Amino acid sequence: MQKHRINDRACSGKASIVPTFSLMTMDDVPEVAALEKICFPTPWSEKLFVNEIENNNSYFLTATIKDKLIGYAGFWLIIDEAHIVNLAVHPEFRRQGIGRILIENILDMAKQKGALKATLEVRETNTPANLLYERLGFVCVALRKGYYADTKEHAMVMWMDL
Ligand SMILES: CC(C)(COP(=O)(O)OP(=O)(O)OC[C@H]1O[C@@H](n2cnc3c(N)ncnc32)[C@H](O)[C@@H]1OP(=O)(O)O)[C@@H](O)C(=O)NCCC(=O)NCCS
Repeated sequence: MQKHRINDRACSGKASIVPTFSLMTMDDVPEVAALEKICFPTPWSEKLFVNEIENNNSYFLTATIKDKLIGYAGFWLIIDEAHIVNLAVHPEFRRQGIGRILIENILDMAKQKGALKATLEVRETNTPANLLYERLGFVCVALRKGYYADTKEHAMVMWMDL
């Protein structure tokens, strides 16, 4: 299937190879679901990612290097709010700026589609993600106690103006 490429932002100087960012397609779903299993204790199934592609208010980007999927992120556009619902980078490719660029591309896309604010939930104990979101300008505005059914961890609810 033809890939719809997204404007590439610069990776940090640490990245040895520059990834390609594209809209997720049905062809990507098996690799996305496989990476999801590596990255999350309660992973989304392939069917859930197929549902995202079929949902007109859902937008997912992939990051690939030489046709290998190394990251993805997605959001739902709900009126003028972008709800970031997923972000993952393959463990071998972390700390090279790929997660940051995925979210920056997501926020750019959300703004182009009329979003005025962005929000997400993140496990309180997920320090890498918390630091990444804070660095991008997200602010924690609330704590949802015991939100995650698998570990009973609290969720930090973060927002930012776009
Ligand atoms: C969170 C995640 C997507 C970050 O991806 P990444 O590509 O490694 O992040 P980046 O390289 O773009 O990091 C950008 C900034 O975030 C912060 N950060 C990211 N990972 C960090 C870590 N392990 N420790 C401390 N700070 C970290 C740093 O400020 C970093 O900037 P720096 O490298 O210049 O110091 C990745 O760790 C991941 O996939 N985790 C598992 C899935 C997950 O938790 N997703 C988020 C769900 S809400």
